[in-house]
Amino acid sequence: MPEHDLRVLTDLETKEKAVVLRADLDVDTDAISGIRLLAIRSSVDYVFEKKARKVIIIGHRKRPEEFDSNLSTRLLIDPLQQVLERKITFAPDFDKMPKDDLVLFENLRFWKGERNQDEAFAQKLAGLGNVCVSDAFGTFHRNDTSISRLPELLPSACGIQAEKEYLVLSRVLQKPEHPFVVIIGGAKIQDKVGTIKNLAKIADAVLVGGLLPIEIKREKLSFDNNVIVANLTTEEKDIDQNSIDKFVEIIGTAKTIVWNGSTGYVEKGFTQGTDSIIKAIIESHAYSVVGGGDTTQYLFNQSVQSQFNHVSTGGGAMLEFLSGSKLPGFEALRRNR
Ligand code: 3PG
Repeated sequence: MPEHDLRVLTDLETKEKAVVLRADLDVDTDAISGIRLLAIRSSVDYVFEKKARKVIIIGHRKRPEEFDSNLSTRLLIDPLQQVLERKITFAPDFDKMPKDDLVLFENLRFWKGERNQDEAFAQKLAGLGNVCVSDAFGTFHRNDTSISRLPELLPSACGIQAEKEYLVLSRVLQKPEHPFVVIIGGAKIQDKVGTIKNLAKIADAVLVGGLLPIEIKREKLSFDNNVIVANLTTEEKDIDQNSIDKFVEIIGTAKTIVWNGSTGYVEKGFTQGTDSIIKAIIESHAYSVVGGGDTTQYLFNQSVQSQFNHVSTGGGAMLEFLSGSKLPGFEALRRNR
């Protein structure tokens, strides 16, 4: 595994401390069985084992401009209690701290200060505890106050999930076993162009599906020769059979695979390309890393997630990391070191 210079949980004294845990709570209520809530458990268990006095979980859901009861983190109490196997007390507002030892605060993005690096809001968050554990990797590409300022204000460490993400994704960038094959699907080519270009320099093949082939054509983008852009079916809801066959053949040769984004509109039943890719990755026995909210949720629905070496909690964050960018979440932890 690559070395890193982040302070991690084993470096942080948490005994008798109130630990502010910035966690990844950005889940749909119909997707609460997914990876993000499960990923919170390791850091919570670790700090309680080390005799933390209290854990205060903070995080955001979606992009609210103001209070919206459908986006309250209160809706996560039951699933989180099940995942953590601990009782959680909900706190609706940052001015009042419940006495209990495990507290979940309301959606951070109900407060404008979360999105604009507001110093007073940052100080308020820092006042919740004595130390900070930053573990919301899925949001590490955002400059939100709790991600890029809070870790500077308290003794802080990278959480267990975020550290794992860092190690796995660094290994893929720095020491992939070849042949290294990347599959990028979904939509929004502008969010993915940097990742495709950077990975094309490292990988043997970058296979592109989803809506991206249409967008690439529309925007007249060009890539290196090892970037293979799929053809779509006439309905343009999935990649066509020839492209599926070609992708499956290339995946079959791989020793390392990174995958983000389904090849078709799986929510509407266009799953043929995506299902073929899942099967090909599993059968390849390559070291496999998969990310992206829709893709990972699909794997969960099919109960195949355990057959991948690493299922990332990051969508945009994973893509930005793989594009070679520095993520504000890791940079804040480095500044604190
Ligand atoms: C994500 O799901 O990608 C993160 O939670 C970040 O959410 P955002 O795109 O709304 O900032």
